[in-house]
Amino acid sequence: MEFLSLITFILFLVPATSSSSQHVNNLLSHRKIFLKTENTSTTSYAVIFDGGSTGTRVHVFHFNQNLDLLPVNDTLEFYKKISPGLSSYEDDPEEAAETLIPLLEEAESLVPEELRANTPVRLGATAGLRLLDGNASEEILQAVRDMLSNESSLNVQSDAVAILEGSDEGSYMWVAMNYLLGNLGKNLSQTVGVVDLGGGSVQMAYAVSANTAANAPEAPDGDDPYIQTLVVNGTTYDLYVHSYLYYGKEASRAVILNVTGDSANPCILAGYNGTYTYSNVEYTALASASGSDYDQCREIVLEALKVNETCSYKNCTFGGIWNGGGGSGQDTLYITTSFYYLVIQSGMVDSNKTSATIYPEEYKIAAEKACQVKYEDAQSTYPLLDEDVLPYICLDLTYQYTLLVDGFGLDPLQEVVVANEIEYQDSLMEAAWPLGSAIQAISSLPTFKRLMYFI
Ligand SMILES: *[C@@H]1O[C@H](CO)[C@@H](O)[C@H](O)[C@H]1NC(C)=O
Ligand SMILES: *[C@@H]1O[C@H](CO)[C@@H](O)[C@H](O)[C@H]1NC(C)=O
Ligand SMILES: *[C@@H]1O[C@H](CO)[C@@H](O)[C@H](O)[C@H]1NC(C)=O
Ligand SMILES: *[C@@H]1O[C@H](CO)[C@@H](O)[C@H](O)[C@H]1NC(C)=O
Ligand SMILES: *[C@@H]1O[C@H](CO)[C@@H](O)[C@H](O)[C@H]1NC(C)=O
Ligand SMILES: *[C@@H]1O[C@H](CO)[C@@H](O)[C@H](O)[C@H]1NC(C)=O
Ligand SMILES: *[C@@H]1O[C@H](CO)[C@@H](O)[C@H](O)[C@H]1NC(C)=O
Ligand SMILES: *[C@@H]1O[C@H](CO)[C@@H](O)[C@H](O)[C@H]1NC(C)=O
Ligand SMILES: *[C@@H]1O[C@H](CO)[C@@H](O)[C@H](O)[C@H]1NC(C)=O
Ligand SMILES: *[C@@H]1O[C@H](CO)[C@@H](O)[C@H](O)[C@H]1NC(C)=O
Ligand SMILES: *[C@@H]1O[C@H](CO)[C@@H](O)[C@H](O)[C@H]1NC(C)=O
Repeated sequence: MEFLSLITFILFLVPATSSSSQHVNNLLSHRKIFLKTENTSTTSYAVIFDGGSTGTRVHVFHFNQNLDLLPVNDTLEFYKKISPGLSSYEDDPEEAAETLIPLLEEAESLVPEELRANTPVRLGATAGLRLLDGNASEEILQAVRDMLSNESSLNVQSDAVAILEGSDEGSYMWVAMNYLLGNLGKNLSQTVGVVDLGGGSVQMAYAVSANTAANAPEAPDGDDPYIQTLVVNGTTYDLYVHSYLYYGKEASRAVILNVTGDSANPCILAGYNGTYTYSNVEYTALASASGSDYDQCREIVLEALKVNETCSYKNCTFGGIWNGGGGSGQDTLYITTSFYYLVIQSGMVDSNKTSATIYPEEYKIAAEKACQVKYEDAQSTYPLLDEDVLPYICLDLTYQYTLLVDGFGLDPLQEVVVANEIEYQDSLMEAAWPLGSAIQAISSLPTFKRLMYFI
């Protein structure tokens, strides 16, 4: 390997799960029970805190030496959540840290006592913390580090508490998805690519050939490198990863409304006149007299996406970002998180499905329909949508279609899998970054076979 990029497990911004997303999550939490006993002296646990802007979740994962998941208190996917998130305690870092103690205690109680000292614990903080002023976020992270070293009997490494880089979120997500699908260790053409639409940013990750990786361009200053190299069970993968800040579901509304400034915006449903607040900034959300219009909305969205920005590489996605060169690692794409919530909430996919194969074109068809709805009829047309996001249903659908087709260059008639949970050993497992982080964390334990690591 000539092109090796070192990744650091620090820093950055990730979208938070929106309240509407949680609503769908609750609707769908019908997890199956899984029972199997294993000699615990040969198994490993990992405790991962996901510090989002609306709350903090703790996940407890349990693996055998082959890296298969084992149950924790009868479920393969144990997690607990508290609200609000760490960023709500800007003025009191100690209090922020203390709110995590009940989660920590519960997580610890699930790890057999003799394994605790060898169980890695990590906290990855996302969007909310990054947006705090001054060094408030660093103060909170330091308080969490102190709390963990005071209170925890788990293995707290020096880099255990940090803001997660967008690209790390992307590569952990790729690992989690391919792990659950049983693809790790296979040829890159048998892996799947992932596009994860969060609240604040969107991540794309897929495996590329060693040749593509060796010739990869340098990322713009301040961005993470385009390629991360990962070894799983003896197989080396070069992952193309990029995180687009401001192009998450909630953030993109701000960017799209910003294009029209104080004037009416053709993406807003007829009859609505209000404001949209993102990251403490207010944007005018005013419908035009004739209401929303798909074609006009699409023009605004294309402008917001900067599809025509100068591309200094052979091929770009949008905003002048290299597209990774394509290849067989992205022949099958899984699109997740807010892509999933929107297909459920808009009625494109039945709400009892945890994944479905769709075409990007279906977002367009749904958008054309949504853009004809009046604000006053929106709740009856879209009963699963939360009231505060009703004015944006035309905008969201048009954005997601445009992002996939004009942003990421997908064929409108190419099959993609929209997924929230993946079937793994008769259980439904959420594909999300904490699982990838857990695999990486246990793989670096001295007692564990180094099944997976980044180089
Ligand atoms: C568990 O594995 C350890 C190490 O391989 C072994 O010494 C021990 O006897 C095993 N315990 C049981 C209950 O099988
Ligand atoms: C690792 O590779 C070995 C041999 O190629 C295989 O038997 C084993 O199942 C693999 N483990 C995982 C977790 O993929
Ligand atoms: C483990 O499961 C039992 C039985 O379902 C439940 O009573 C207990 O609260 C669970 N423990 C934790 C820490 O969630
Ligand atoms: C935050 O800034 C204050 C004042 O400049 C300083 O005393 C403190 O050490 C900083 N905290 C961290 C964690 O860097
Ligand atoms: C952790 O311990 C240090 C030193 O004992 C103490 O100053 C600090 O307040 C403690 N922090 C927490 C969050 O318990
Ligand atoms: C892996 O896939 C590539 C491209 O699809 C192919 O050229 C190569 O022969 C495959 N390697 C193996 C070991 O199957
Ligand atoms: C809004 O537009 C202004 C002027 O074009 C620009 O400077 C600013 O960065 C934009 N903000 C967002 C969130 O797009
Ligand atoms: C929208 O609301 C604002 C403030 O409530 C009002 O000043 C403005 O005239 C309204 N615009 C339209 C087009 O109704
Ligand atoms: C991008 O460029 C194409 C071709 O030059 C043009 O037709 C299109 O209107 C441009 N789109 C935007 C949003 O500027
Ligand atoms: C890359 O750009 C070339 C022309 O510059 C085009 O023919 C090709 O289809 C593009 N490939 C991708 C994957 O977008
Ligand atoms: C899902 O819902 C559809 C109709 O809405 C129903 O026909 C189907 O049986 C449901 N499937 C499950 C697994 O509940």
